[in-house]
Amino acid sequence: MKVCVVGAGFVGLTTGLVFAEHGHDVRVVEVMDSRLRQLEQGKVPFHEPGVQDAVTRQIAQSRLRFTSDIREAIDGAECTFLCVGTPQGDDGAIDLRFIKQAAKEIGDALSAKERRHVVVVKSTVVPGTAADVVRPIVQESSGWNVPVASNPEFLKEGSALKDARAPDRIVMGIDSGGEYVWDLYASFECPKLTVTTRTAEMIKYAANSFLAVKIAFANEMANLCEDVGIDWLDVVEGIGLDYRINPSFFQAGLGFGGSCFPKDVAALAYLANSHKHPSGVLNAALASNATQPLRAIELLEDELGDLEEKTIALLGLAFKADTDDVRETRALPILHALQAKGAIVRCHDPQACETFLELMPDANVITDLDSAIKNADALVIQTDWQEYKTMDPAHLKAQMAGNTIIDGRRALSPELFADAGLNYRGIGYGANESTD
Ligand code: UGA
Repeated sequence: MKVCVVGAGFVGLTTGLVFAEHGHDVRVVEVMDSRLRQLEQGKVPFHEPGVQDAVTRQIAQSRLRFTSDIREAIDGAECTFLCVGTPQGDDGAIDLRFIKQAAKEIGDALSAKERRHVVVVKSTVVPGTAADVVRPIVQESSGWNVPVASNPEFLKEGSALKDARAPDRIVMGIDSGGEYVWDLYASFECPKLTVTTRTAEMIKYAANSFLAVKIAFANEMANLCEDVGIDWLDVVEGIGLDYRINPSFFQAGLGFGGSCFPKDVAALAYLANSHKHPSGVLNAALASNATQPLRAIELLEDELGDLEEKTIALLGLAFKADTDDVRETRALPILHALQAKGAIVRCHDPQACETFLELMPDANVITDLDSAIKNADALVIQTDWQEYKTMDPAHLKAQMAGNTIIDGRRALSPELFADAGLNYRGIGYGANESTD
């Protein structure tokens, strides 16, 4: 099939890439000049394992092409995937500016086209957006009854390619017409669910919100475990064996970040509120997530006392490992809190130094790990990069001035680091009490 994808961000590029791998002919529309130029030269504009090589292969096979011209991309295509950003408005509501603009451009391009085309919304949007916002705009600007479907994406940054190649399910919302969009997924082997567009949109929001609530719950339980001398990881093992609970996405840490969970939970909470069904659960998860990064500060103060003039190495600026994305990274509230306490903060990340500097131009970002930890009084692991997981405890001990390690993501072995004379504190690691 010939496919047009609008938006070469994270979701759009990976979606187009995987369709190309399945033999479809894909054109990706990108309006941002700098991003388009990179893509035309075959360069992926963000860090995501495996994507660069896969894109190079599909470009070489001429199955993946990039353009800024939506008419050219839609010409000959039977479907257009809408993959533009849906930022959060000031009040927490979803901002549909880019969706509306893209829907209008798609409709305009479709006005000149033969009447077989389906527009598929992949961007994360609140229930009712495909039917009540996108469809009327596309139909008005095209002048014909274009079907609009909803196909939410469930891939995770850091494992985007793996997730998109082997999805655990594909959900398609179809209201009237455009069922042939399923042909695109004919060679994918996983459960496939057809629902209405509203239901598909709600499935996406409910999935992300449930996972965010699960993580917020894990964080609070982990904090409590520290106080009462229990290791949260042992608890996860015990409760995770209950098939109704499941151990995944139960890793406690310094809070959830990224472009999805914080924004999507806020948007769903806003929607619930606007329907006069305020969600105590969603609001509580957001409130809990706002304070969780400060757990790192509490642990530091526990160990070092006053943080004024103390040198802290903040390891991990990306919101999670294997990405250079810093949107809603928990590194930011940690850095702000440390600065407010008068600490000297050195920030390090294997991939996200540049993107973090765009967010925080004054940050003291150090690209070399050894220089970041040299003579530090303490270090805080905010992202569980492999580079941190493999740090040598003896080397750390020799390099640092102090010996405190705050493991915000449980990246390290507590025993190994304690044995090397380091003062290990980990989120959910309540090792103080023993039953011996
Ligand atoms: C999330 C969802 O997991 C995807 O299914 C969804 O497609 C995507 O949002 C989206 O809506 O586009 P993503 O934000 O890329 O994916 O990454 P996650 O792996 O979900 O991590 C989100 C945050 O939760 C990170 O800050 C991570 O550190 C944190 N997290 C995750 C935990 O604190 N504990 C966990 O057990 C898992």
